[in-house]
Amino acid sequence: MTHARQHPTQVVAHRGASEDAPEHTLAAYRKAIEDGADALECDVRLTADGHLVCVHDRRVNRTSNGRGAVSALELSDLAALDFGSWKTRDSFGGRTEEPDWEHRPEDREATSVLTLERLLELVLDAERRVELAIETKHPTRWAGQVEERLLLLLKRFGLDAPATAEESPVRVMSFSARSLHRVRAASPTLPTVYLTQFVSPRLRDGRLPAGVRIAGPSLRIARSHPAYIERLKESGHQVHVWTVNEPRDVDLCLGLGVDAIITNRPRAVLDRLGR
Ligand code: G3P
Ligand code: CA
Repeated sequence: MTHARQHPTQVVAHRGASEDAPEHTLAAYRKAIEDGADALECDVRLTADGHLVCVHDRRVNRTSNGRGAVSALELSDLAALDFGSWKTRDSFGGRTEEPDWEHRPEDREATSVLTLERLLELVLDAERRVELAIETKHPTRWAGQVEERLLLLLKRFGLDAPATAEESPVRVMSFSARSLHRVRAASPTLPTVYLTQFVSPRLRDGRLPAGVRIAGPSLRIARSHPAYIERLKESGHQVHVWTVNEPRDVDLCLGLGVDAIITNRPRAVLDRLGR
């Protein structure tokens, strides 16, 4: 496995190749790897029985055929659900071309609830280096348990204490500075990304929470505050922008020299980058 960054602008598949396939499923992540994504993004939540699963919303209602909060369900409850059938051909954003993902109920694993453990296996089994950006969702509700479980899991895979941030295939992202602080306290070399939706006065000078090297501003920020992105870069931070799907926004990010583009359409962004 090579440790050097191979491309100046990393393409990160947001929730997998989530325009083509149902988000946060193996189907979406396999497709992202096939598409050539440099990295995968996922959100993690804790189930009632303490498993980390890849689900964005607090509830499973939107992305499965079940109902209820992830935190109130056990892994076995989630395993009984289908996380693919909601994504019908009608829901593919009005695109004229057919997506090349097809829901195949017989491939149960492709659209079952995805544990972070299974996603890590997928990443580590890939034939080339694929990185994983893991976002902790609502970590404050769990008073440190999300980070604790996450670090234990990473330890099982030998990923919790990389020699340097550069060589780590995994990074942890959060809108919560407290969550990142917990991760950094336990694992100082694991790269962390501070996500922001708006530029707060506190952030205007381009400073991030202590020890965090990567900024994760929204596309809205990149569009409306390009000087802020430049300040972050001048301060020596990497900048990873989400969620960038349109060609003109890809061009904007390239113009700003961002380090990673987080997108639902990894193949289209790679095409735009000439890769
Ligand atoms: O990659 C960051 C981005 O995923 C944050 O927003 O709501 O899609 O998790 P959200
Ligand atoms: Ca996310």
